[in-house]
Amino acid sequence: MESSSLPFGKKFSPTTKKYREFHRKSITDTEGFWDREARRLEWFRPWDKVLEWEPPFARWFVGGLLNASYLCVDRHVKTWRRSKVALYWEDEAGNARTWSYSQLYAEVNRFASVLRKLNVRKGDRVAMYMPLIPELPITMLATARIGAIHTVVFSGFSAQALADRINSTQAKVLVTADGGFRRGKLIPLKEKADVAIERTPSVESAVVVNRANIDIDMKDGRDFWYHEQLKKAESYVEPLPIESNDPLYILYTSGTTGKPKGIVHSTGGYMVFNHSAYKWAFDIRDESVYWCTADIGWVTGHSSIVYAPLSHAATLVLYEGTPDYPNPDRWWEIIDKYGVTIFYTSPTAIRMLMRYGEEWPKKHSLSSLETLGTVGEPINPEAWSWYYKNIGKERCPIVDTWWQTETGGFMISPAPGIELVPLKPGSATLPLPGIDAEVVDEKGKPVLSGVKGHLVIKKPWPGMLMTLYQDPKRYKEAYWSRFPGVFYTGDYAIRDTDGYLWLLGRADEVLKVAGHRIGTMELESAAVSYPAVSEAAAIGKPHEVKGESIVVFAILRKGHEPTDKLKKELREHVRKVIGPVATPQEIYFVNSLPKTRSGKIMRRVLKSVLMGKSIGDLSTLEDEASVKEVKKAYEELKKLVKAGS
Ligand code: WTA
Repeated sequence: MESSSLPFGKKFSPTTKKYREFHRKSITDTEGFWDREARRLEWFRPWDKVLEWEPPFARWFVGGLLNASYLCVDRHVKTWRRSKVALYWEDEAGNARTWSYSQLYAEVNRFASVLRKLNVRKGDRVAMYMPLIPELPITMLATARIGAIHTVVFSGFSAQALADRINSTQAKVLVTADGGFRRGKLIPLKEKADVAIERTPSVESAVVVNRANIDIDMKDGRDFWYHEQLKKAESYVEPLPIESNDPLYILYTSGTTGKPKGIVHSTGGYMVFNHSAYKWAFDIRDESVYWCTADIGWVTGHSSIVYAPLSHAATLVLYEGTPDYPNPDRWWEIIDKYGVTIFYTSPTAIRMLMRYGEEWPKKHSLSSLETLGTVGEPINPEAWSWYYKNIGKERCPIVDTWWQTETGGFMISPAPGIELVPLKPGSATLPLPGIDAEVVDEKGKPVLSGVKGHLVIKKPWPGMLMTLYQDPKRYKEAYWSRFPGVFYTGDYAIRDTDGYLWLLGRADEVLKVAGHRIGTMELESAAVSYPAVSEAAAIGKPHEVKGESIVVFAILRKGHEPTDKLKKELREHVRKVIGPVATPQEIYFVNSLPKTRSGKIMRRVLKSVLMGKSIGDLSTLEDEASVKEVKKAYEELKKLVKAGS
């Protein structure tokens, strides 16, 4: 964790002085600071009060009226930017489409009119289950335009996961596509959506984008083609003035129980926070051609593909495909084709592309790149250095952004838009302005530098979640009760002697598999819903490329034999219940699981077994366990894992 002084040409500053001063001021007078930041946006009516803080509920820019869709399109079409490219879209096969800001504006308006005709009103929920096509951001913006609330469900999730999310939000309309493509394979989205709609009585209508040109079932009176509806739509729909604290969207994410959490984001605070954080972290400008490779189904896609870059009138690249298909230089080819200046991806993707070797990026110039970013999981220094050298050509800083679905936007990250501080491979560097972060011990006391602890945020910030959808109690418990008065992130971190933060992964029961957030409890309930399984424990095992992989330990019901066939079936079952992102890499059938006396599975012991580590000190267990039994289970499991059973 030594200070490095990487050369970044003119932009690089040898100190952190200017940045630290800026940050110090921002957290001394936080409200004054955000009051000034909020003025960067265009409001229909100014706010009466910057912050109403009734812990743990924050209301930002109270009384202010604005509209997210207005900020992302209307504002730009009033200027020369109307003819600027808003979006370059491309698919795996090389089919491409380009949208100017005025085209985007026109279609957002038309689709807003379609939604109105389908009876969607302010506060109603609209669900989306779509591939990475321009119609997805268009649908989101159209929903926001009329004051409705969107809930995007990642298209890699199963029909059941989609149904659960729709039922939880009681969405009226589902927008989907006939299909999508991944590695040349057709993903039949409408077919899956149909299964979900059977289980979701709230859905009155479904709008279907013709993406794949395939035969699908369209139910009369319920299902409508997107393109047909657009033709009948009005060309202008007034953007509804929205109170800053009316929700913009609900996005489900995994927590420590089997039930995903519905993160609710506001309109005003969320937009202000993202607009500013984007300026600081990526120094985004008019001439930026910006590409974030995430899927819009995750928060990264919401903030970092749709709302922040469009609010800055950047030119986006949207690519519907995987990094190495059809070749491992597909991404590098796209960067050169569109002249991408800011490229933002995940450590998993970097590690995957790194494995294919340097010859692939070498085939391309990559000379348009100015700034690189990463997100989603800790980046190991080796991948950082490869990225820095082979993609950024030792010219582009790497902006390692730490944040969460809950935080709405970047929290800890270098900020070249203010001053580019010396980077250290593997560290997300310093908290962004307005963010008061601390590392604390189990009792909530700040730890010394170099000591691992829990990352907490001490003050509310505008991008923070408002609550969990229809569950304020769980919101309080999950984030504000572990350490009273501060926001619990669930991440471990270390602060070094320069004050730089090193994020060390989750401290709770949440896995990060290829950057995707999956709860162990969700995996376990999916496993036990398989008839042959009576109990299951899921844990994450370090994985060279994906960061973590899923390992399931399962106890079989009487009468079932532990066969390879059963393993395969169980793997398929979990995949079907949650989606392909949740596919277990390894499954072990066991006779018992190490548990505390109160019946809690001791994941720590399971992890030790997998890692080939000793069992560790059992005397520190918070809940007294039968040490003898745990040891027995440990020995048994060790044998099994060793045998690769
Ligand atoms: C992890 C993704 C290290 C972290 C935006 C966090 C990171 C979780 C980083 C949130 C990073 C995200 N370095 N770890 N730069 N960025 N994480 O909600 O564990 O899908 O708590 O949001 O990802 O995942 P989520």
